[in-house]
Amino acid sequence: MLLELTNIGKSFGGITALRDVNFTVNEGEIVGLIGPNGAGKTTIFNMVTGIFPPTQGTISFAGRSLNGVPPHKITELGIARTFQNIRLFGHMNATDNVKVGCHTRTHAGFWNSLLRLPGQRREEREVQKKAEELLEFVGLSHIADVRSDTLAYGQQRRLEIARALATEPKLLLLDEPAAGMIESETKDLMELVSKIRDMGITVLLVEHDMGLVMNLCDKVVCINFGVKIAEGAPDHVQNHPDVIEAYLGKEDEQDAEHA
Ligand SMILES: Nc1ncnc2c1ncn2[C@@H]1O[C@H](COP(=O)(O)OP(=O)(O)O)[C@@H](O)[C@H]1O
Ligand SMILES: [Mg+2]
Repeated sequence: MLLELTNIGKSFGGITALRDVNFTVNEGEIVGLIGPNGAGKTTIFNMVTGIFPPTQGTISFAGRSLNGVPPHKITELGIARTFQNIRLFGHMNATDNVKVGCHTRTHAGFWNSLLRLPGQRREEREVQKKAEELLEFVGLSHIADVRSDTLAYGQQRRLEIARALATEPKLLLLDEPAAGMIESETKDLMELVSKIRDMGITVLLVEHDMGLVMNLCDKVVCINFGVKIAEGAPDHVQNHPDVIEAYLGKEDEQDAEHA
């Protein structure tokens, strides 16, 4: 397996955000992490990417413990993410945002390369080419030179995915990638995530769009109030009584309100 969470607990001061969470992500899978707001999904992403350590338990990636490993090192090991609240460099254009991701795999580093030292020109050309290819891959070639803070919401989300891919991850974490998207954008996103998996990248995604989760994921893990309540095939989780009560039931109510 690629990612393994063993007895993960997390407290913030007196508040227990996660308790005894266990699950695994196998190489080549798309795994969905679902649960109501506040369940602890983003907290799991923050621990996997080294932003803060778990209070209890172990996270291992490709057979190696991530305990005490700093975020930049975790990126180097091959884990990349996008954020629930988009975090692009707003004043930079789309290409430069992707280049920032590329430079985790180069020697020069992004800011040094801006100084254009002679030995770095070739590397810079390669980075430019890679950024262009990634923008094409996510369908954003036409806005390569546009400032990222002026892009449409769905475009910004896809740009974040391109930046994450630029770090050449083995595992990609997507935190609510379809949030705020209209139906046609969500459909394009699902195709994009499939293509990413077909490239050999494993995906763990947090998402509220049940159509997306159920159609795309090989496995689904549901947490509620920091505790795992179901895990398994999408059908199994979707029909699990605890999940229906905790999550899907709420969705139905929301749907009914919007109907
Ligand atoms: N950095 C933090 N400091 C304090 N509490 C936090 C922090 N991050 C998350 N929490 C709390 O942990 C719980 C889970 O949050 P989160 O992981 O963001 O939920 P989800 O992503 O499932 O909506 C919430 O009660 C939230 O307020
Ligand atoms: Mg969240």
